[in-house]
Amino acid sequence: MKILAILGASGHGRVIADAALSSGLWQLIQFYDDAYPTLQCNGRFPVVGDSAALAASGLPTVVAIGDNVRRLEKQQWLQQAGLPIATVCHPSAVIACDVVLGDGCVVLAGAVINSGAQLGKACIINSRAVVEHDCELADAVHLSPAASLGGGCRLGTAVWVGIGAAVRHLITLEEFSIVGAGAAVVKPVLTRQIVAGVPAQLIKMNK
Ligand SMILES: CC(C)(COP(=O)(O)OP(=O)(O)OC[C@H]1O[C@@H](n2cnc3c(N)ncnc32)[C@H](O)[C@@H]1OP(=O)(O)O)[C@@H](O)C(=O)NCCC(=O)NCCS
Repeated sequence: MKILAILGASGHGRVIADAALSSGLWQLIQFYDDAYPTLQCNGRFPVVGDSAALAASGLPTVVAIGDNVRRLEKQQWLQQAGLPIATVCHPSAVIACDVVLGDGCVVLAGAVINSGAQLGKACIINSRAVVEHDCELADAVHLSPAASLGGGCRLGTAVWVGIGAAVRHLITLEEFSIVGAGAAVVKPVLTRQIVAGVPAQLIKMNK
C-alpha cells in the first residue's frame, strides 16, 4: 500500500488528498502538521505527527500550505532532509504530454495545462484553472480556482492569481505579485504589486 504524506492539515490538504487517492498512485494519506498532537485529524484523514516527524519518515511528501513562500521554504527544507517530493495530479486534469511540472506541483480537478507550458516547484494549479500553451511559471505560483492564463504568460516566484481572474496572453506577472479575484489583467504586473478589477489596476503593494 503506497502512502502519501501531506504537510499541512488544511482544507487545501484534503483537496490534494482526494486528488492523490483518485489518481490511484497512492492508497493511504497521512497528514503531518505542527499543530500535532493537539490536532489529531483533518476530516476523515489522520494527523500522525509534526514536520520533524515527517522529515524522519522517508515518505513521499507534498506540502499543502497556501502561503506561497512558506510552502516553498517547507518543501526545500524537506528535500534537504532527503524526502522524495511528490507531484499530485487529479485524473480529471488535462495536461499536455510536453508539459514540465516541477517537484511538489499539484494540479487539481478540471485544470488544463496546455502544450509547451513549464512550471517550477511547488506550484498550485487549482480546480478548473487554465494554463495556456507556452506559459512559464516560476516556483511556488498559485493559480486559484478557475483562474486563466492566456498563451505565453510569464509568472515570477510566488505569484498568486485569485479566483476567476483572467490574464491576457503574453503578459508578465513579476515575483510576489498578486492578482485579485475576478480581475482582468491586460498589462504587465510589477514585483510585489497587488492588482484588482476589470481592467486590473494597482491597489496596493504586497509587503
Ligand atoms: C486582491 C486581494 C489580495 C486584496 O486583499 P487585501 O489586501 O486584504 O485588500 P482589501 O480587502 O483591504 O481591499 C483593498 C481595496 O481593494 C478592493 N478589492 C479587494 N479585492 C478586490 C478584487 N478582487 N476586485 C476588486 N476590488 C478589490 C477592496 O474593495 C478595497 O477597496 P476600498 O479601499 O475602496 O474599500 C484580495 O481581495 C483578493 O482578491 N484575493 C484573492 C482571493 C482568492 O482568490 N481566494 C481563493 C483562494 S483558493
